[in-house]
Amino acid sequence: MEIVVSGIRPTGELHLGNYFGAVRNFLRMQYENQCYFFIADYHSLTTHPTPADLHGNVRRVLINYLAAGLDPDASTLYIQSDVPEVTELYLLLNMNAYLGELQRVTSFKEKVRKQPDNVNAGLLTYPTLMAADIIIHKAHKVPVGKDQEQHLEMTRTFANRFNRMYNVEYFVEPQAYNFGEQLIKIPGLDGSGKMGKSEGEGNAIFLSDSPEVIKKKVMKAVSDSGPTEPNQPKPDAIQNLFTLMEVVSSPETLDFFNEKYNTCQIRYGDMKKQLTQDMIQFTAPFREKINEIAADEAYLKKVVNTGAEKARESAAKTVREVRQIIGFRSF
Ligand code: TRP
Repeated sequence: MEIVVSGIRPTGELHLGNYFGAVRNFLRMQYENQCYFFIADYHSLTTHPTPADLHGNVRRVLINYLAAGLDPDASTLYIQSDVPEVTELYLLLNMNAYLGELQRVTSFKEKVRKQPDNVNAGLLTYPTLMAADIIIHKAHKVPVGKDQEQHLEMTRTFANRFNRMYNVEYFVEPQAYNFGEQLIKIPGLDGSGKMGKSEGEGNAIFLSDSPEVIKKKVMKAVSDSGPTEPNQPKPDAIQNLFTLMEVVSSPETLDFFNEKYNTCQIRYGDMKKQLTQDMIQFTAPFREKINEIAADEAYLKKVVNTGAEKARESAAKTVREVRQIIGFRSF
């Protein structure tokens, strides 16, 4: 069975775009592979959260992923900072990571541009920490989006360099997890591109959104005055509404509104009312689960402790072996 590692950024709640993207991939992988999923809270320190925010963000993200179906019995689900072995491997890898290559990383250059007053060493060495996350469990596969491909390439570089330096075949070179079928891209409600939390208020529907909030967001979604001729292609904003309907409504409902559109009889107010109702129904089980888990401290504690224990077992073995290879000996 292949080993899969993936880090989750502790930022915000899950929205439908996350759910139909990364989360559904996790759900599929967790029963087919030996998965290590962790919340990357060390990484998040590069942007200096307050102590209250740090814990709150980690907790919220953990609850969201559990509610979305991540199964802590099937995979190893843990908090990165509960596994200090990661930081030791990070330190060791940093000794063989060069300033030039770290400075050339696209995500680093972007941060330098975006936060010129906080170009800390953690940002520079973000790829070594990520490499440590991955190779500490000897991962074969990492599910990454386009924005993380360069980091994964660096991980292979560091793993390889270590092997050559000590003339061992110790670390595995991790590859990107390939998802056979095409992912559905979930559009946002603002008429433009995809659903995202940074695209502005009201663009994303979160799994935790209350029915009132969902109603407000959907009713405010961008539309237009409707088609003037039958069977015309749909403008982007309208196609977005139909795509959202495709994922949360029944095929009959979708057919009904398509027919209305094609015969120029569509009333977007009616369509949005239907979409609101179906959206509320689709997200209801997640909302309930989020509330249920959030109220169960004992369960959360158990999940986190069990995850840490399982992750540390694997991580400690790697660090022990790496120390041997490097030449640390006990007296
Ligand atoms: N860099 C990833 C992101 O921004 C998060 C991450 C940290 C990660 N460590 C990882 C992803 C290890 C995969 C494997 O989304």
